[in-house]
Amino acid sequence: MNIHPEFHRFLNRTDKEKLLDQKGIVVWLCGLSGSGKSTIANAAERVLHQQGHFTTILDGDNLRTGLNSNLGFTDEDRLENIRRFAEVAKLFVSQGIITFVSAITPRGELRDMARGILGNDMIEIYVKASYEACEQRDVKGLYAKAARGEIKNFTGRDNSFEPPNDPDLVIDTEQSSIEDAAILLLEAINSRIETNPDDEPQ
Ligand code: ADX
Repeated sequence: MNIHPEFHRFLNRTDKEKLLDQKGIVVWLCGLSGSGKSTIANAAERVLHQQGHFTTILDGDNLRTGLNSNLGFTDEDRLENIRRFAEVAKLFVSQGIITFVSAITPRGELRDMARGILGNDMIEIYVKASYEACEQRDVKGLYAKAARGEIKNFTGRDNSFEPPNDPDLVIDTEQSSIEDAAILLLEAINSRIETNPDDEPQ
């Protein structure tokens, strides 16, 4: 391949982290549609933002209107969807940004791929809620549509959701309020984003 990456002479991650006074991390939230991933990411992001942190949220519904608008919900398309999420998150974390990913990420194979791309920069959060609970909430009306047979490959119905085996944190949104969920998430993040005074830019 005639490709010559230029990373060596660009400002590096430590330079960016020093400027932002934080360490980058990817907080990957997986779970059924309507389980509360984006709501919790939003609540946690607002707290961090108020504390002066630089954050972003990569959200499934949003990315699917732009970067991933050519992808649907077959297994193959979900794999490509998640690969792009992970690669974009990698670019952001390499700039020191606290990056939330809110994507169903329904299978272990997909989460393993993301971890392969992001390594230790990724923490995996399972936002847990049963299909029935999500169906009752049905904020977007998709569960009703799926029940009427109007959505193909709907996660949890005709397309499987495999709960993660060993996530860093499980947040059960049938038990916790949004505030409590955000507190749990922030506890998991806080020690990872603190800068070390010994880290000097090169
Ligand atoms: S993923 O499985 O590839 O990780 P992603 O998080 O990007 O999914 O997108 C999920 C969102 O797409 C859902 O929250 C929902 O709003 C919408 N959606 C539309 N069709 C489907 C479907 N068949 N299965 C799941 N979600 C769907």
